[in-house]
Amino acid sequence: MILISDYNRKYSKILNLSFFLFLIMIFNPPIFAEQPWMDASITASERADLLLEAMTAEQKVAMCHGAWGAYTGNVPGIPELGIPALCLSDGPQGARIGPDGNVTCFAAPITLAASWNVDLALAFGRAYGAEQKGKGTNITLAPMMNLSRIPQGGRNWEGYGEDPFLSACMAAAEVKGIQSNGIIACAKHFIGNEQETNRGSNSSAIDDRTLHEVYLQPFKACIEAGAGSLMGAYNKVNWTYSCENSYIMNTVIYGELGFKGFIMSDWGATHSTVPSANNGLSLEMPGSGYFGGSLLRAVKNGDVSPQRLNLMVKRILVPMFEAGLFDRKPEGSTSANVTSPSHTQTAQDMAAQGLVLLKNTGNFLPLGGSIKKIALIGEAADSRPIVTGGGSGNVPYTYMQLVTAKEGIKDRAGSQFDVAYDAGTVPGRATSVAAGADIAVVVVGVNSSEAFDRLSLSLPADHGNRLIKSVAAARKTIVVVYSPAQVLMPWADDPNIVAILWGGLPGQEQGNALAKILFGDINPSGKLPLTFAEKAADYVPAGPEHGRTVWYSERLLIGYRGFDSRNTAPLFPFGHGLSYTTFGYSDLQCSSTSVTFMLTNTGIRDGAEVAQLYLGFPESAGEPPRQLKGFKRIFLNAGKSQAIDIPLTDNELSIWDIQKKKWAVPEGTFKVYVGSSSRDIRLTGSFQVDK
Ligand code: NOJ
Repeated sequence: MILISDYNRKYSKILNLSFFLFLIMIFNPPIFAEQPWMDASITASERADLLLEAMTAEQKVAMCHGAWGAYTGNVPGIPELGIPALCLSDGPQGARIGPDGNVTCFAAPITLAASWNVDLALAFGRAYGAEQKGKGTNITLAPMMNLSRIPQGGRNWEGYGEDPFLSACMAAAEVKGIQSNGIIACAKHFIGNEQETNRGSNSSAIDDRTLHEVYLQPFKACIEAGAGSLMGAYNKVNWTYSCENSYIMNTVIYGELGFKGFIMSDWGATHSTVPSANNGLSLEMPGSGYFGGSLLRAVKNGDVSPQRLNLMVKRILVPMFEAGLFDRKPEGSTSANVTSPSHTQTAQDMAAQGLVLLKNTGNFLPLGGSIKKIALIGEAADSRPIVTGGGSGNVPYTYMQLVTAKEGIKDRAGSQFDVAYDAGTVPGRATSVAAGADIAVVVVGVNSSEAFDRLSLSLPADHGNRLIKSVAAARKTIVVVYSPAQVLMPWADDPNIVAILWGGLPGQEQGNALAKILFGDINPSGKLPLTFAEKAADYVPAGPEHGRTVWYSERLLIGYRGFDSRNTAPLFPFGHGLSYTTFGYSDLQCSSTSVTFMLTNTGIRDGAEVAQLYLGFPESAGEPPRQLKGFKRIFLNAGKSQAIDIPLTDNELSIWDIQKKKWAVPEGTFKVYVGSSSRDIRLTGSFQVDK
């Protein structure tokens, strides 16, 4: 018979023992705290090496592929080694994690690009990264940096436009912002994914100089900014799939650029085991078709060496250690509401600073003076807004979050202005609403999606060109266009169209941003990150390639570089954007290390200007006539001046020497062009580079 007291004694022994174990756990928490790679005082590389020593081949292979789970991409953790799970989410306009409405729908990167504001790109990266972290993401699939090589490109809105220098500056700032949250950015899609048509099977034929000088630049900047990962593209590059292409991965990214992070495949873009592993890929997404059992077998039979497997895994572990993923508990959850008033403000800043005033006849805008009655026209202002694009970059916003153009304008107009809205869907009605007002504001747009390129560069006829023309025939008209990239504007010269604004894909705060610009609360400062042509035939290349090979035969002459070299006048040039004030440029001084000048706000309103520096290389270098190599966005009060200094380094002055396979600064005279757009050059000078 067990006496109660015996029982108590035994039980209390057990209790004592568990209390003791509990104390050990509290003060010396998980067992892996004893593990040498958990020592945060040694470098990430040392920690990764120590961890690799403790891992079996099976555990290493488990880190090289994805599995099903709550995120866009999932790599389960290995708790006994203290390895946290990887949770990968899209990007890039906002966190693509439902439920709808509890993330911020920022403006798209193409709109951010139009702000030319590197500080805003940093702020966006911080806010966007914080939302991803709040959702439990530790690797976000952004930024996207394929260039707008063709205006039809279905994903142009996810990137930063046609210029490699502008894209590089913006994307690098975004990476810094994202990673300031202790999560990892993934710069995508490496490389040559400039069209969606047949992206999974075609080959981008890019010569080595063009690859280095144009398409590599944004990736190089992201690596220099510390990006922990890259995503290999769907397409082939020079007839070998990106994710098994030794030249672009082993040679360029790891060899030339010294990248220390890892390359994952785009979803389903891995096509082999041995070539992919040996040529630089570390992580197959989203499944394990090539980097699961087949990779383990390849390691066991020697086709992939143990050293190579270690390298693949080390490249994943180093950014994980650097981001602190081993040193804190997993945070966030997919159901968390991660929006905030400050993120909403950032979304609005992006939409406002990225709204480009293309035309403003006789300083018609801002609204005021005798204008009292406004006719607001177009479904895009209300029931069919253009907010975010389609595909993996789509942001799950709700209509409740969205401030449409109609809401924003009515709200700002208050009782000061009378706003009459018409959707423009009933023939003749919009015209009579316009005729009864002092001014018409027509809001139109078009959208696009991943996996398709746009079939036409025209706005839809009924909700676009026809509507604009009929309204403009009745009343002076302001046209607001939202689109993922260029559209044709055959009505741009109509004298009754007194103002034109372009705002990319403006996100949830579009209505407030538009109202503030129209009524002059914010002075527009956006500048085009794209060249808008007069007619479709002026674009070279004219559109997506439908054959098996996408020949990048325009070589260095992407975007405005081509328009300049062909001497084709654009409708609105790259870098163009008007302000409600004016700016004067003077006192240019240039050398091979810096370009300085004086910028003055010569008007009567405070405002920001984006001063742009273009270089013309020595003729022998065979470069495009002018290339953007520096810019500064400066806010100046009316009447004020500021000395501007744009530094130059070998990075801006070099060309890729295909023979020596090296960067080289050409000798000779560099021409300097400083101005307000690529075609509004205010100051010219030159400097000499000698041996
Ligand atoms: C395919 C897209 O190309 C890529 O950008 C995205 O991150 C993945 N799908 C995951 O959704």
